[in-house]
Amino acid sequence: MTLLITGGAGYIGSHTVLELLSTGHDVLVLDNLSNSSRESLARVAALTGRTPGFVQGDVRDRTLLDRLFTQHDISGVVHFAGLKAVGESVREPLRYYDNNVTGTLTLCQAMMAADVHRLVFSSSATVYGDPASTPISEACPTGQPTNPYGRSKLMVEQILQDLAAADPRWSIALLRYFNPAGAHASGRIGEDPRGTPNNLLPYISQVAVGRLAQVSVFGGDYPTPDGTGIRDYIHVVDLALGHLAALDYLQRHPGLQAWNLGTGTGYSVLDMIHAFEAACGHAIAYTIAPRRAGDIAACWADPGKAARDLGWRAQRGLAQMMADTWRWQSGNPDGYPGD
Ligand code: NAD
Ligand code: WQD
Repeated sequence: MTLLITGGAGYIGSHTVLELLSTGHDVLVLDNLSNSSRESLARVAALTGRTPGFVQGDVRDRTLLDRLFTQHDISGVVHFAGLKAVGESVREPLRYYDNNVTGTLTLCQAMMAADVHRLVFSSSATVYGDPASTPISEACPTGQPTNPYGRSKLMVEQILQDLAAADPRWSIALLRYFNPAGAHASGRIGEDPRGTPNNLLPYISQVAVGRLAQVSVFGGDYPTPDGTGIRDYIHVVDLALGHLAALDYLQRHPGLQAWNLGTGTGYSVLDMIHAFEAACGHAIAYTIAPRRAGDIAACWADPGKAARDLGWRAQRGLAQMMADTWRWQSGNPDGYPGD
C-alpha cells in the first residue's frame, strides 16, 4: 500500500515524507516543482536510505492522476500541493483559486473514481480569521480570512465538509497548521523560499546568514506585552508527525474532523529574534516598521483536541526550532543547489 503525497517535495511535504519513509510507509510524491526542487527528496533518500517514488506533474492533471491511481496501490492521500504566498494571492487570485481549489477538486474526483477515500488536507489557522479570543480551539467558528490564499483554504474546507456529509466512505482530516518553522535536525532539509521570504523565521535566518540586511518588525504597537505580533510557531518535524497520527486515526474513523496543529504557546516577533540570536551566536539587526496590512495581533492554538484524538503533541521547543533552522541555513546559505 502506497501513500500519495501531493506537494511532497516542498517544505512541510519533504519533512513528512522523511517521517513516513522512516516508519516503513511506501510513498509516491506528485509535485510540479513550482516552489521546490528535486534535491529535497534526494536528501530525504540519503537520510532514510529509502527512495520515495516521484512523479513531476500537476495535481490539476486528471489524466495523470487517473494513471497514478491505476498504476499504484494507493491507500490514502496527503494533499500539500498548493500555493501559499499571501501577497501574491492578492495580486493573482485566479492562479491561487485554480491551484488550491481546482487542484483539490480534481484530486477528489480522481480519488472517488479510484475508490480511495482517505485524505489529509493542509489547512491553516488563517481559516479562523481574526479570532475573538485565544487560545483558538476547533470549536471557534471559522472567520473571514483577509486574502485570497486564506479564502482558498476555507473554500476547500467547506468543499470537503460537503463531500464527507454526502458520502460516508470518506475519512478526511483538516489539519489547521499554525506557524510552521524549523528544519530537520540533520540540517540537510529545511525551508527554501524562492525570492525574498514573506514569513518571519526564514527572513530572520537570511539576515543571520548575511543574505538580507535587517528584519523589519511589522508593528511595535500591538496590544501585546512587547508590542509585537504573537504567533504559535510549530517545529516542522512535530507538524510532520501530526500527519502520521492523522493518517492512522483516519484508518479507524470515517467522517471529517478538523485539528489544530500548534504548540499552545505564543511568541512575539522580538522573542523570535532574540531566540535566534542565542542559536546563531550573534546579533540580528532589526527595525520597528509599520504594521503589515491584514496582520492580526495575536494567535495561538489550543492543541488539546489533537492530543485527545490523535495522541499527538508538539515536543520540540523554541530553542530547538532555532538551532535546527540555523543548522540548515548556515549549512545551506543559498538553499538547495540548482534552484
Ligand atoms: P511549499 O511551497 O514548500 O510546498 C508546496 C509544494 O506543492 C511545492 O513543492 C510545490 O512545488 C507544490 N505544488 C504547488 N502547486 C502544485 C500543483 N498544482 N501541482 C503539484 N504540485 C504543486 O509549501 P509548504 O510550506 O510546504 O506548504 C504545504 C501546504 O501547507 C500548502 O498547501 C500550504 O498552503 C499549507 N500551509 C503552509 C503553511 C506555512 O506557513 N508553510 C501554513 C499553513 C498551511
Ligand atoms: C509572523 C509574525 C508578522 C515577517 C502567514 C500566513 C498564514 C500561514 C502562515 C501559510 C507576524 C511578523 C513577519 C517579517 C515581521 N501561511 N513579521 N517581519 O502572517 O502569522 O501567517 O504564514 O500557509 O496563512 O498568513 O506568518 O511568518 O508572515 O508572520 O515582523 O519580515 O511575524 O507581522 O506578526 P503569519 P509570518
